Amino acid sequence: MATISLSISIQIVAWAIWILLCGKCLDNALHQLVVAASGSSTLQLKQAKALQETGWWPSTTHAQASSNYSSACHWDGITCNAGGSITTIDRFDQHLGGQLIKLNFSFFPNLVSLNLSWNSITGRIPLEIGMLKNLVYLRLSSNMLVGPIPSTLGNLTNLKYFLSLSSNMLGGPIPSTLGHLTNLEYLSLYSNILVGPIPATLGHFTNLKYLDIGLNKIDGSIPSEIGMLKNLTTLFLDSNMLVGPIPSTLGHLTNLRSLYLRQNQINGFIPSEIGILENLTSLYLDSNMLIGPIPSTLGHLTNLEFLNLSQNKINGSIPSEIGMLKNLTNLYLYSNKLVGPIPSTIGYLTNLQFLYLHQNQINGSIPPEIGMLKNLTSLYLDSNMLVGPIPFIWDNLTDLQYLDLSVNSLTGSIPYREVNLYWVKYVNLSHNSIIGEIPVALGSVARLSSLDLSYNNLTGHIPPSLIYIKRIDLSHNSLKGQIPDGFNRHHKSHTLTGNWHLCGQFKIFPPCPKSKKSIVTKIEIFAPITSFLGFLVIRGIILSRCVFKKNQFELRESKNGNIFSIWNYDGHIAYEYIIEATEDFDIRYCIGTGGYGSVYKAELPSGNVVALKKLHQREAENPVFYRSFINEVRVLTDIRHRNIVKLHGFCVHKGCRFLIYEYMERGSLFWVLRNVDEAMELDWSKRVNIIKGTAHALSYMHHECIPAIVHRDISSNNILLNSEFRGFISDFGTAKLLDPDSSNQTLVAGTYGYIAPEFAYTMIVTEKCDVYSFGVVVLEVLMGRHPGELLSPLSSSSSSSSFQNMMLNEILDRRLPPPNRLIGQDILLIATIAFACLHTQPKSRPTMKCVSQEFLSRKKPNVIPLTTVPLLQLRKQVAYMEGSGFAYC
Ligand SMILES: *[C@@H]1O[C@H](CO)[C@@H](O)[C@H](O)[C@H]1NC(C)=O
Ligand SMILES: *[C@@H]1O[C@H](CO)[C@@H](O)[C@H](O)[C@H]1NC(C)=O
Ligand SMILES: *[C@@H]1O[C@H](CO)[C@@H](O)[C@H](O)[C@H]1NC(C)=O
Ligand SMILES: *[C@@H]1O[C@H](CO)[C@@H](O)[C@H](O)[C@H]1NC(C)=O
Ligand SMILES: *[C@@H]1O[C@H](CO)[C@@H](O)[C@H](O)[C@H]1NC(C)=O
Ligand SMILES: *[C@@H]1O[C@H](CO)[C@@H](O)[C@H](O)[C@H]1NC(C)=O
Ligand SMILES: *[C@@H]1O[C@H](CO)[C@@H](O)[C@H](O)[C@H]1NC(C)=O
Ligand SMILES: *[C@@H]1O[C@H](CO)[C@@H](O)[C@H](O)[C@H]1NC(C)=O
Ligand SMILES: *[C@@H]1O[C@H](CO)[C@@H](O)[C@H](O)[C@H]1NC(C)=O
Repeated sequence: MATISLSISIQIVAWAIWILLCGKCLDNALHQLVVAASGSSTLQLKQAKALQETGWWPSTTHAQASSNYSSACHWDGITCNAGGSITTIDRFDQHLGGQLIKLNFSFFPNLVSLNLSWNSITGRIPLEIGMLKNLVYLRLSSNMLVGPIPSTLGNLTNLKYFLSLSSNMLGGPIPSTLGHLTNLEYLSLYSNILVGPIPATLGHFTNLKYLDIGLNKIDGSIPSEIGMLKNLTTLFLDSNMLVGPIPSTLGHLTNLRSLYLRQNQINGFIPSEIGILENLTSLYLDSNMLIGPIPSTLGHLTNLEFLNLSQNKINGSIPSEIGMLKNLTNLYLYSNKLVGPIPSTIGYLTNLQFLYLHQNQINGSIPPEIGMLKNLTSLYLDSNMLVGPIPFIWDNLTDLQYLDLSVNSLTGSIPYREVNLYWVKYVNLSHNSIIGEIPVALGSVARLSSLDLSYNNLTGHIPPSLIYIKRIDLSHNSLKGQIPDGFNRHHKSHTLTGNWHLCGQFKIFPPCPKSKKSIVTKIEIFAPITSFLGFLVIRGIILSRCVFKKNQFELRESKNGNIFSIWNYDGHIAYEYIIEATEDFDIRYCIGTGGYGSVYKAELPSGNVVALKKLHQREAENPVFYRSFINEVRVLTDIRHRNIVKLHGFCVHKGCRFLIYEYMERGSLFWVLRNVDEAMELDWSKRVNIIKGTAHALSYMHHECIPAIVHRDISSNNILLNSEFRGFISDFGTAKLLDPDSSNQTLVAGTYGYIAPEFAYTMIVTEKCDVYSFGVVVLEVLMGRHPGELLSPLSSSSSSSSFQNMMLNEILDRRLPPPNRLIGQDILLIATIAFACLHTQPKSRPTMKCVSQEFLSRKKPNVIPLTTVPLLQLRKQVAYMEGSGFAYC
């Protein structure tokens, strides 16, 4: 309240001061008016009057106060010379309206600059404009002017910087008198309805740098005099009705950077002189009637970024010199009559983003060099006569979004490797002779929304993952077997016609014979789903008991209707911040991807950094997934432990499916152990702490949560490290609640190399599965690599194992110095526990509670040098504790 009244009183004071000052300034103005009235010339009065008559200066402003008496020098957009005569009228974009004719030009002999652009001014350009003899700058563009360009404009011989009449509705021919404007540097007549030829007098504009006559109805041919405009940097003659050839005199315009002759009816050859224009960055000759070959001299245009020769009748082959255009980003040669192969030199165009060679008669095979075009986003080679297999080109094409190789004679199978087609939206390989099976992983390309593989000879089953692709056509192949569940909900039968060995779902196919196939399908679908669920992990400081209650997390709608919940944070994360911080999940912020979704790093306005896991659209659309997602969020919002990654919040709604969790600077334990420098930074005491922390977290999940949570995928990949190398269990994708009411039998989950052996045959989830995996991770941390062979059961490897006669110190990570005595004690305890955890009999493994308590207890093993501890003894569970065995088990 106090602040409000204070600010009100400040305002009152401000007003008072303003009124006082203004009273003073009004006095001054009045004084000046009197002086001006007595001293001002008739010209000034007439100018003010002429301006006022246009109605372009509102009479309520100072215009009224002064106009009767004085000059208009102080009006908006007006500048005068020392003598008080108007030199500049700049009323750009003021919604003036009205007609130009209202301005009586005869009163402005000193006018230098007139800018009335963007004002919806109607009517004709009055002939009297020719009276503005001193004009150097004239802009009337973007109005609604009609009628012809008055030939009196040719009198304005001082025009220099600008003559722009663009974007009006001016008709008639370009007056040849314009040729008198020899000082002009910029002329734009763009977007009118001008007719007739380009006057040859245009050759007089020798100072012209910019000439735009585009988008009119100009006909006739391009006068060869154009070659005299040596200072031209930009020449737009596009979108007219020009005929005849490109004059070879264009080769004189060596300063030219942009040349647009597109969308005319220009015919004849592309003159080889074009190769002289080495400063060209944009060359658009497309949509004409050009014939003959692409001149090899084009290879000299090494500054070229945009080259468009499409939609002509150009023949011959693509010159290999094209490979010299190293700055090219867009190469459009489509819809011509090009023959011969794609030159392998295309691989040098490493800046290329768009390569459109479709609708020609190009033959030969696709050069593998295309695989070097790292910046390529669109590759269109369709409707040619290409043969041979599709080369494996994807490794570098990480930005590719559009791929069309349809209507060729390509053979071989679809080369595919999952990780690299991250951005691909559109794939068309139809009308070729491609064989083999459809790669299953194609269905997990996140952004793929259109896939056309029709009219090939693809075999095998339809991968279920494909059904979520928005537009799909698999017709006319040799696909067989059961159509995946749900296909008919997303797609029509015509997308599968011509595959006569398919069954089920649609009337056009016979029903499938009954089989056990559905289990296979389930696993395929289930795997990517579960792998996502994992990031649902929570904050916590103390080991608190967790009991699951229903619905205790708050859902709130953000501005745009997304269900968004944030808890336990600084309260300042908002949906908008997340979108802003990641520029709407721009790939630049992506720090990892997988089949399930992507992880982004986002710095919030508060300076806090969070990690975001965002679901790929298609998984999110899967209802099975969606239910589990919500369920898991509900459950996991309640676990809190200092060694479990914190979940700060989540957003779940159409178009918004992500989780916000604590950012872990060092990434996964797996990667840290793989990197020599980081592995060395991860010294023995840090390693011991990671192992202990993980044990405490697992004990908490197994024994303090009701119902118990089994992680099911403990591995070095799922233990993340913060900046201080503290370990956090993450990725609860496969986590399962051991609920007395529901079956503990499940599908396989986990990471190869960490899965407890019994799980393979029982498929029953128990806490002991995690205990085993924990044992593997512990050995991995001690050894600096996955223990591999060391895990194989004693009996089967008794004689062959190279570990047979080893001492404990010999398996320790050699990148670190041997542990000192104190740490050695810890390592002995840890190793003993690890081997106990790896027992083949689940019942014989210690519980995590017991492991955790062992670590918490002060009791340490006897001080024995590690060099004297045989591995075999450890594996046989000979205890090195004081007393016998584990004190707490
Ligand atoms: C200014 O001129 C207008 C008409 O031109 C007139 O109505 C108005 O009274 C004049 N103002 C003064 C202060 O003379
Ligand atoms: C402009 O002013 C001059 C001089 O007063 C006058 O002769 C002429 O008719 C005016 N032109 C227009 C178009 O009003
Ligand atoms: C005149 O108009 C153009 C747009 O046509 C505008 O960009 C410019 O700022 C205006 N004023 C001057 C003094 O050039
Ligand atoms: C072209 O531009 C240069 C420098 O910008 C200038 O000196 C020259 O007079 C201009 N005109 C011709 C015809 O070269
Ligand atoms: C390219 O332009 C620069 C200046 O704009 C000029 O000096 C150079 O001569 C031009 N290049 C050619 C090949 O004419
Ligand atoms: C790809 O494009 C980026 C900018 O978009 C550019 O910095 C980079 O140099 C390009 N890469 C290659 C290989 O040309
Ligand atoms: C990717 O680019 C590198 C050179 O930048 C090249 O050596 C490699 O062959 C390319 N890979 C493919 C698959 O084309
Ligand atoms: C498709 O491939 C199968 C074997 O893979 C072959 O028997 C069949 O003739 C092929 N069909 C066509 C139209 O090429
Ligand atoms: C699942 O496992 C938990 C813990 O081991 C046990 O309490 C529960 O009874 C089991 N549920 C079933 C249906 O066997």
